[in-house]
Amino acid sequence: MTRRSVVTGCGRYLPERIVTNDELAKRVDTSDEWIQQRTGICERRIAADGEKTSDLAINAAQKALSSAGISADDVDLIVLATATPDETFPATATRVQAALGMTKGAAFDIQAVCTGFIYALNIADNFIRLGQANTALVIGAETFSRILDWEDRSTCVLFGDGAGAIVLQGTDNSDSAAPRGILSNHLHSDGRHHDCLYVDGGPSSTQTVGHLRMEGPEVFKHAVNNMASVLGEALAANDMTAEDIDWLVPHQANKRILDSTARKLKLSREKVVITIDRHANTSAASIPLALYEAITDGRIQEDDIVVMEAMGGGFTWGASLIRW
Ligand code: UT7
Repeated sequence: MTRRSVVTGCGRYLPERIVTNDELAKRVDTSDEWIQQRTGICERRIAADGEKTSDLAINAAQKALSSAGISADDVDLIVLATATPDETFPATATRVQAALGMTKGAAFDIQAVCTGFIYALNIADNFIRLGQANTALVIGAETFSRILDWEDRSTCVLFGDGAGAIVLQGTDNSDSAAPRGILSNHLHSDGRHHDCLYVDGGPSSTQTVGHLRMEGPEVFKHAVNNMASVLGEALAANDMTAEDIDWLVPHQANKRILDSTARKLKLSREKVVITIDRHANTSAASIPLALYEAITDGRIQEDDIVVMEAMGGGFTWGASLIRW
């Protein structure tokens, strides 16, 4: 019997406040032209004062549950990917659990920065395939605006806030020749690259929250190589080629990275789901936010081959391949 995890619902939440490139140009020495040309970003959402990562996550999770047509009572696992938790502890996932009224099962956070959603998905998929959970909420939620150095033009223009969530449910596809659900996951990390992308604070180092620091061009180079190589790995593991991909839903860090990855794989740019123009880089939230758009506007259809991939601080990178 083949037990697989199928996506049965999706939701998102974006803070109301839109911040344009022109607005940022009043704050730091930058321009709408530079930001659009170098990154593809036009605007981003920024959380209101007092609006926390858990608030974003709860909203997205409620919408995902209602799109799946289930209630919190049906959920037995929450895996929340974030690098910007409400507090050092407890896990932001437990706040989501309490707000949803879910009292059974387990809820915890995982931290792989921009690759967080892929890590969370892989963990939830393992729980489901092993029978330890049947219905999981997988959430990516971030308030990166809280860890940006708003004086540093090389980073503050790149990020935004938001949350996306999916419902993942176990299905026994024993008689299908082409079973639906997650077909494979591929995770990597290489901690030697810490200094390329990190936050210069934390409870056990400085006892402060710190600010994001990034060697942009160095990260760019690794991102293009790692994203293309993990995609190749996911395709090879499933005896597929780039031609089999219906939709690529990548982490949204830079439009030029997405274009280069598509070029490397000879994948048509129309098959790449892009939201970076409106959301900027929302770290662990970017993939479920992009998924939400491609599901709700009807691009992603049942049985489509959908590949998600990401690369982030650490470095961490990974991919998941799904027959939708
Ligand atoms: O999500 C996690 C993974 N993150 C990523 O994948 C991000 C990867 N990196 C990138 O996306 C790009 O490297 C950036 C968008 C961060 C930077 O673009 P770049 O084309 O690599 O620019 P650069 O850092 O090489 O800077 C080029 C020039 C520099 O000026 P000089 O030295 O040539 O005079 C920068 O000082 O652009 C300048 N610059 C800016 N100018 C206007 C840097 N930031 C800005 C800015 N506005 N905001």
